[in-house]
Amino acid sequence: MFESAIHSLLLRMDPETAHSLAMSGLRRLQQVAPALRRFERQHRVVDSRLAQEIWGRQFLNPIGLAAGFDKDAFAVPALAAMGFGFLEVGTVTPKPQAGNPRPRLFRHRELRSLQNAMGFNNAGMESLRRRLAENWPPPVPIGVNIGKNRHTELSAAAEDYRVLVRHLRAKADYFVVNISSPNTPGLRDLQQSEAVARLLEVCQKEADTPVLVKLSPDMEDQAAADLAHVAVDGGAAGLVLTNTTVDYELVPEALPVGGLSGRVLRRRSLELLNVVASEVFGRCVLISVGGIESATDVYARLRAGAHLVQIYTALIYGGSRIVREINEGLLSLLDQDNVADVPSAVGLDV
Ligand SMILES: Cc1cc2nc3c(=O)[nH]c(=O)nc-3n(C[C@H](O)[C@H](O)[C@H](O)COP(=O)(O)O)c2cc1C
Repeated sequence: MFESAIHSLLLRMDPETAHSLAMSGLRRLQQVAPALRRFERQHRVVDSRLAQEIWGRQFLNPIGLAAGFDKDAFAVPALAAMGFGFLEVGTVTPKPQAGNPRPRLFRHRELRSLQNAMGFNNAGMESLRRRLAENWPPPVPIGVNIGKNRHTELSAAAEDYRVLVRHLRAKADYFVVNISSPNTPGLRDLQQSEAVARLLEVCQKEADTPVLVKLSPDMEDQAAADLAHVAVDGGAAGLVLTNTTVDYELVPEALPVGGLSGRVLRRRSLELLNVVASEVFGRCVLISVGGIESATDVYARLRAGAHLVQIYTALIYGGSRIVREINEGLLSLLDQDNVADVPSAVGLDV
């Protein structure tokens, strides 16, 4: 009751203010151990059928928090207690940066979608390292999503990714090379073969940690398929599909700024997963993200070849109970189809 009252209040406020308030609430919660334990009891679904071992780590369920929600890893214990199977923090850049001027986050509420032009606002890699160290070891696997600083020339981008991996390698279960945000000018130009191969090489030289690449939904199918091969051949441990879209026609009243996420992205995200899975399924881990808001959505992504999924926008509209609802719903769907567990569901339709 209390939680849903707070949630509807937050949805009536300016989106970025609401986000800051929610983050403060989560930070306060994790400072009070009994409250955190109670929150976890209310939210976490414990069932071995949801679990998978990936890269030698236990993922207790396949639902992760997408990058950008907790860019600076301020709320890892509370978000883990919310029931997520894993968390992706970042995007982090080497130096702190303020991001784009506000307003830069907008709701399209009737479409259950968001539009953001944040521009990698974050406290930088040293702050992130300290935050992660404070709560080490983390209760769930942690991915660190890395990006270049806005003012780093594209020709020097690899150096930013290299220092990020070097600085954070002891505090990440996996890295995601983010070359698909629409809010850092030129970043998406790195989505071509030589650049991807080079970035992977540079990152892998610095650490044994699995390195993944996050792709945009706005590439042609063939370009995404080709890039997926380049990434896997270059040693990528996985692909994250997808970032936000700049297809502004999806939202009639959208201003042409930033990227769209949520329900309007759902179809393209699933489509691109199908394209990429048919090319590289079995050769790397696929993480599907974009417009996922229900257990049915998650089940469809698993069957299409995703090992893991992530949500962001659905958490904003659905509130903290959504993780539990999805995990419980997923168990019912497995039962209904006589599928033993999540690993057995992955890739059935490929
Ligand atoms: C406000 C906001 C900030 C985001 N920041 C990042 C980011 O820093 N790095 C990143 O890789 N993706 C970022 N994303 C994209 C999400 O991680 C995700 O790929 C996208 O929102 C699609 O998932 P969804 O439909 O469940 O929201 C952001 C999304 C939103 C809405």
